[in-house]
Amino acid sequence: MKDTIVGYRNKAIHGAYTHILKPYFFRQDPEDVHDQMTRVGRELGTYTAGKFITETLFGYENEMLRQTVFGIDFKNPIGLAAGFDKNAEMTDIMPSVGFGFAEVGSVTGYPCAGNPRPRLWRLPKSESLVVWYGLKNDGCEIIAERLSKKHFLIPIGVSVAMTNCAANVNPRLAVMDFRKAFATMEPVANYITVNISCPNAKGGQPFLAPHRLDYLLDIIDEVKTSKPIFVKISPDLSDEKIFALLDVLHNHRVHGIICSNLTKNRHNSAIIDPEIPKFGGVSGRAVRDISDQMLATIRHREGDRYVLVGVGGVFSAEDAYRKIRLGASLVQMISGMIFEGPQVISEINRGLVQLLKRDGFTNISQAVGADV
Ligand SMILES: Cc1cc2nc3c(=O)[nH]c(=O)nc-3n(C[C@H](O)[C@H](O)[C@H](O)COP(=O)(O)O)c2cc1C
Repeated sequence: MKDTIVGYRNKAIHGAYTHILKPYFFRQDPEDVHDQMTRVGRELGTYTAGKFITETLFGYENEMLRQTVFGIDFKNPIGLAAGFDKNAEMTDIMPSVGFGFAEVGSVTGYPCAGNPRPRLWRLPKSESLVVWYGLKNDGCEIIAERLSKKHFLIPIGVSVAMTNCAANVNPRLAVMDFRKAFATMEPVANYITVNISCPNAKGGQPFLAPHRLDYLLDIIDEVKTSKPIFVKISPDLSDEKIFALLDVLHNHRVHGIICSNLTKNRHNSAIIDPEIPKFGGVSGRAVRDISDQMLATIRHREGDRYVLVGVGGVFSAEDAYRKIRLGASLVQMISGMIFEGPQVISEINRGLVQLLKRDGFTNISQAVGADV
């Protein structure tokens, strides 16, 4: 499709989303909408016609965005972040929506119903979500079986975490749970993310303590794999704490860092809604600047030792490009898609091409870390 036609198409869909669909969705419970979208995505992905229509509405391709990372081909750098496709039900439709890759999960060692509802809220003024799902998912055995039957058209990463249950308050049991999820999901993933930063599980975030992370990664190191391994970190860490965690990563089989998860910190000038739930982690614009700052800090300290994935508050091509120039090879998003509409993925990719041309780059990989 010609670039100008893609531009008009995106504007038309953006208008329809902003004026019709979004007001309709935002009147309903956010988790109900999420469940409906999961069903629609699953159905569309089942049929060739569904994928064709979706691709016609949302697709965009440009060779300037293609890069190889760890020998894996990414047709563009924009991926779906963990938490939207918790049970890996939408991997067939995500390529047609325009994503260059997708991360499913977080998947845990055992099935988990998550925290009681309500557990997802919108902060419309702050363009953020408050998430208190508590790692709801079908568990690693069911999800591995589901993914084993799929043929991926884009790289699919799997985020693994410890089951949200009382037993895992004991870090030794939590580590064995992590190991089970990791070992079970490893054969069906293109890459694995060890999620140590879920803000919503019983027992908190024990593996943000360096000695515990060291122990967890010792156990993960025992599982044979040739797949790239990422660690996803919290944005609520001081530089000192980040450096201590990075020192631990140096001693283990870790290839990349995902920066970042949801923020728990309510003292954040980007949160402007008058009411905010007491529980849960905050996504979207509220986490954008702290994630960017952390990305820059890590890139500055580590150079290109790790592949960095930037996530948090990506709503536009400029947001994605800033993360790329700060050192991210890949970018992920969820909230931007909910607040702006699903055409935003194509808008971002198309905008990235324009920004690369403006700055004299011929490929996205040349812009990675340009500002550090
Ligand atoms: C509804 C929802 C569920 C999430 N669940 C997970 C999860 O299970 N595992 C995880 O690592 N991150 C999870 N996240 C965090 C996102 O992956 C991402 O780090 C965060 O939302 C910031 O990106 P955004 O501003 O583009 O939404 C979740 C986020 C949302 C909005």
